[in-house]
Amino acid sequence: MCGIVGYAGPRSAREVVVEGLRRLEYRGYDSAGVAVVSDGRIFSDKRSGKLVNLEMALEEHPLPESGTGIGHTRWATHGGPTDANAHPHLSQDGRVAVVHNGIIENFAELRAELVAQGITFLSETDTEVAAQLLGVELAKGSDLTTAMRTVANRLEGAFTLVAADAQQAGKVVAARRNSPLVVGLGEGENFLASDVAAFIEHTREALELGQDSIVEITPDSITVTDFAGNPAEARQYHVDWDLSAAEKGGFDWFMRKEIYEQPRAVADTLLGRHTEDGSLTLDEIRIPEAELRTIQKIIIIAAGTSFYAGMVAKYAIEHWCRIPCEVELASEFRYRDPIVGPTTMVVAISQSGETADTLMAIRHAREQHARVLAICNTNGSTIPRESDAVIYTHAGPEIGVASTKGFTTQLAACYLLGLYLAQVKNTMFGDEIASVMKELEGIPPLMQQVLDDSQVVVDLAARLIDQPSVLFLGRHVGYPVALEGALKLKEIAYLHAEGFAAGELKHGPIAIIEEGMPVFVVVPPRGRDQLHEKVISNIQEVRARGARPIVLAEQDDTFVEQFASTVIRLPKVSTILQPLVAIIPLQIFACELATQLGHDVDQPRNLAKSVTVE
Ligand code: F6R
Repeated sequence: MCGIVGYAGPRSAREVVVEGLRRLEYRGYDSAGVAVVSDGRIFSDKRSGKLVNLEMALEEHPLPESGTGIGHTRWATHGGPTDANAHPHLSQDGRVAVVHNGIIENFAELRAELVAQGITFLSETDTEVAAQLLGVELAKGSDLTTAMRTVANRLEGAFTLVAADAQQAGKVVAARRNSPLVVGLGEGENFLASDVAAFIEHTREALELGQDSIVEITPDSITVTDFAGNPAEARQYHVDWDLSAAEKGGFDWFMRKEIYEQPRAVADTLLGRHTEDGSLTLDEIRIPEAELRTIQKIIIIAAGTSFYAGMVAKYAIEHWCRIPCEVELASEFRYRDPIVGPTTMVVAISQSGETADTLMAIRHAREQHARVLAICNTNGSTIPRESDAVIYTHAGPEIGVASTKGFTTQLAACYLLGLYLAQVKNTMFGDEIASVMKELEGIPPLMQQVLDDSQVVVDLAARLIDQPSVLFLGRHVGYPVALEGALKLKEIAYLHAEGFAAGELKHGPIAIIEEGMPVFVVVPPRGRDQLHEKVISNIQEVRARGARPIVLAEQDDTFVEQFASTVIRLPKVSTILQPLVAIIPLQIFACELATQLGHDVDQPRNLAKSVTVE
């Protein structure tokens, strides 16, 4: 949510910053702006709308060449998406330019204080308060870093601020509290950004910063201090993906590319977890096994798609480990006084590792002495940093705003966690764990098979283009798949779509079924339990009311054909692992329908990747 870039080095700062913004545009696309320092002045341009508007403006009125610059791509919070509210914001004297991600909660009182001092505000944003405060501090004779420290200590809320001072060319200074910021380490140049994607074409070496850090970059130095001015630690790491991962590689959308990357992403997430002696290892488990054995309850917290991955995890964990497991929306968890203690393990699932709701929830859990394990896709992000244990997913950068490979790699990590806990708690025999692992490791080629056979879904999207409403049904692990299928459609096709537990339909929602309404149904494998039969009954219920059932069923499940208007075939896998293959047709359907409707699939309206405000 909001992308920020800062640069100090020998290249054209404008070019580096605008290129960085292009790679961060998925974080927000309400407006974009850039500022550079040249001849003791700040030169800036900013435009509402997508980055292309700024690029066109810069072509007409180029900024001067400079090696010091900052930029921003915005997801509006305070103040509408206008030119005036776009970042950077300048101090009244024009000396300092600031970009910001987050929310400054005490902005109203700070603004009143500054207005009383005779300062005129040009925007409705909370950010301008920080720009004006910095201007005041610089006018008193502070250097930019000291001024930033003073200002950061006055702000409440979550923020990343990046600033450049007209009188200190060659230096960019940032402050971060509860909002993402990474440093890119170049040779004779350095970078600041919300996400490594912004500088990946220049360097793959990055610094992870702690909370409440102030960082100053020049072309050849990086200084990190805390808000009190003491030297602060920062962890250097190597980014294990390169520029090609952050580009579309011939696909029309990042989302489509990411859907097609799923077999590789899931295989990478599973890679190397199974040691030679047959036992499972996870990445950074800093919780001793003896302590894991005392866990009485697991609470999974997450938002959106990650929450649906958590719902699948509950089925797997309870089934394999016999530990009670709750799944809760991160935004609800913290504010309901949850019962959490030292024998509770909280599992936070977050692709970005920066979702504010999830971050606040894990902090709350830690305050209650719970152990926190993160499932995360982003090295260097805050949630894994503040957790006791981490399982990294290896999806590579997810740039499409609608999560796809994020989801399936989270599923893979959740299965690994379930099996690992079963191993630690001895609730499954070694050969049982090995057999599930073997099936799991065999899933990526099956995912590929679903992708290869997806023409039926593409054709279906063309047939359903005029539908105002689509329903998704599932039972057991098919229920979260239904919810995720509906979410995809809402997000990028802007259609009314709802997911239901199939058995719940007759308790109310069935009233909305109308003649011809498409209803996707995830049919479980024909197993020993009654799940399959129950879902078949649910299909008949909607069919009897005129709905058009679109059935996702196993390859050799011919029985479903008589009840379906369309059958989408899935490879044969056990029920609990079926979400890994069943979600793919639903992702493709949403992507295809949105494309056919002419929507911007990667940058859907009103949304942004990585929701860093509560
Ligand atoms: C949906 C989507 C969002 C995210 C949610 C959590 O396609 O992307 O619902 O899943 O905002 O984000 P993370 O996983 O980064 O915490």
